Amino acid sequence: MLQDALQSAHQTHKTVGLVPTMGALHNGHLTLIKQARAENDIVVCSIFVNPIQFNNQEDLEKYPRLPEEDIELIKDYCDYCFMPSVEEMYPVPPTEKYNFGALEAVMEGAMRPGHFNGVGIVVNRLFQLTQPTKAYFGKKDFQQLAIIKQLVKDEHLNIEIRPVEIVREKDGLAISSRNKRLSETARQEAPFIYQTLLKAKAESTHLLPKQLEKWIAEQFAANKAFELEYAQVVDADTLQPIDDYQHSQSVIICLTAWLDNVRLIDNIIIK
Ligand code: PAF
Repeated sequence: MLQDALQSAHQTHKTVGLVPTMGALHNGHLTLIKQARAENDIVVCSIFVNPIQFNNQEDLEKYPRLPEEDIELIKDYCDYCFMPSVEEMYPVPPTEKYNFGALEAVMEGAMRPGHFNGVGIVVNRLFQLTQPTKAYFGKKDFQQLAIIKQLVKDEHLNIEIRPVEIVREKDGLAISSRNKRLSETARQEAPFIYQTLLKAKAESTHLLPKQLEKWIAEQFAANKAFELEYAQVVDADTLQPIDDYQHSQSVIICLTAWLDNVRLIDNIIIK
């Protein structure tokens, strides 16, 4: 049992770094794991495709599952790899209901009802099981990061959340497990997302947030390979839409677009 294995680490006050993942591990995950390795005595990586955070059955079924390759990639950096079954994780159907307020009412939360509740449930269970000192999450899922920070506050958990920068391919595409599902042609098209975000950042010097959102929508409308789900310019702390830049300490553009039937997500801090 993982808890037994970690008990002596906790008793001897060793620090535990947790990297929660859904597998199909790539260099982005490896960056999180290496950071956890550098900052903790013990590193735990969890691999669990969490069914209750998928609101699209096809997405859940098609989610890549590559356990042997995953272990090969991370074995030199992790002390424990926790790969529970759905029955182990949820012996009875979970009923917890989290309220993340305004944070979950926008963007991914608005588009994927129930998604963040499912994330909250699994992450809190992983926290309870491993009692980490620090837990690592990528900034690509920027809203998820904000939700998890809120979860830690709401549940009064003594866990430091360590946000990790987005890792990109050489051509700018944010690394994601879903990239594996892109056809070769679509993969060539994919850097358009980050290129547009970079251009949008430049445009933000003269376009107000709402104008910038419109400008981004126009760029995507002109590229037939993509279907933009949303592009929002929001306050990076509250994740709420804004009308100007000066009232926010930090501003981020978050977007989600479909390419080749694959849902891709990315963001860029513009202030
Ligand atoms: O970001 C992910 O891979 C998942 O949402 C997480 C945090 C592992 C929870 O299932």
